[in-house]
Amino acid sequence: MCLFAIFAPLQGRRFWLLSHIPPLSMIEARQITKSFDNLQVLKGIDLTVEQGEIVSVVGPSGAGKTTLLQILGTLDRPDSGSLLFDGEAPLAMKADALARFRNRTIGFVFQFHQLLPEFSLIENVALPALIGGLSSKEAFSRARELAGYMGLLPRADHRPAQLSGGERQRAAVARALVCRPKVILADEPSGSLDSRNRAELHKLFFDLRRDMGQTFVIVTHDENLAADADRRIMMADGRITGIDTRPQPLI
Ligand SMILES: Nc1ncnc2c1ncn2[C@@H]1O[C@H](COP(=O)(O)OP(=O)(O)OP(=O)(O)O)[C@@H](O)[C@H]1O
Ligand SMILES: [Mg+2]
Repeated sequence: MCLFAIFAPLQGRRFWLLSHIPPLSMIEARQITKSFDNLQVLKGIDLTVEQGEIVSVVGPSGAGKTTLLQILGTLDRPDSGSLLFDGEAPLAMKADALARFRNRTIGFVFQFHQLLPEFSLIENVALPALIGGLSSKEAFSRARELAGYMGLLPRADHRPAQLSGGERQRAAVARALVCRPKVILADEPSGSLDSRNRAELHKLFFDLRRDMGQTFVIVTHDENLAADADRRIMMADGRITGIDTRPQPLI
């Protein structure tokens, strides 16, 4: 009886505390700077991205967008600043821990698909999961599931050279998703596509967020995609110069 009398109020308080802790942001970058030789490319970037958010990054050529994305994606290190990613501090990790963190947390989509030419579509999609240590059965099962979701199954055994530009780019997105990353970082993913394929790829990003809850940071020159994002981050000359927040639809 005594124990219950002691713990019952504590339990209640614990639940109250847990329910009042704000959810962690997915990405929190603070005062990120980066120079190449004498050229300062990032001049103190502060950026927070919430879980499940779609953020676009726009700005003129040379503004530092790719450099920022590479740093957020832990492919490059900043000269100074801090980065929290899903509550972890990747800048403090050793190389092998960082590679594992990246493999399970972040998926990358680049302007040019970068599929391996000698492998089939389904092998390309499965590859990061195989590298990440999944069994061949599980990796190919996931790859087939994603290829099906993206309407690519009829092309599963084709090599990249036998695919259309849109199919290649969808395969690249499937490859980025196969390790079930929490975040997709995309650098001009639709830059090499015609307008119909571009619109389809954009729709796919929003479908993925709806169906799988992924968070997206998308560098783009495409005004339609940029405007559809929850927030549009404007960059110029190594700084964030403005943020547009998309009005929430009235329910
Ligand atoms: N590895 C590097 N070494 C030297 N300079 C670099 C390197 N990477 C980028 N830069 C320079 O940093 C600046 C920002 O490059 P970044 O690729 O981030 O621009 P961006 O905003 O992505 O441009 P774009 O829209 O053309 O892709 C550019 O002036 C570029 O020349
Ligand atoms: Mg770029």
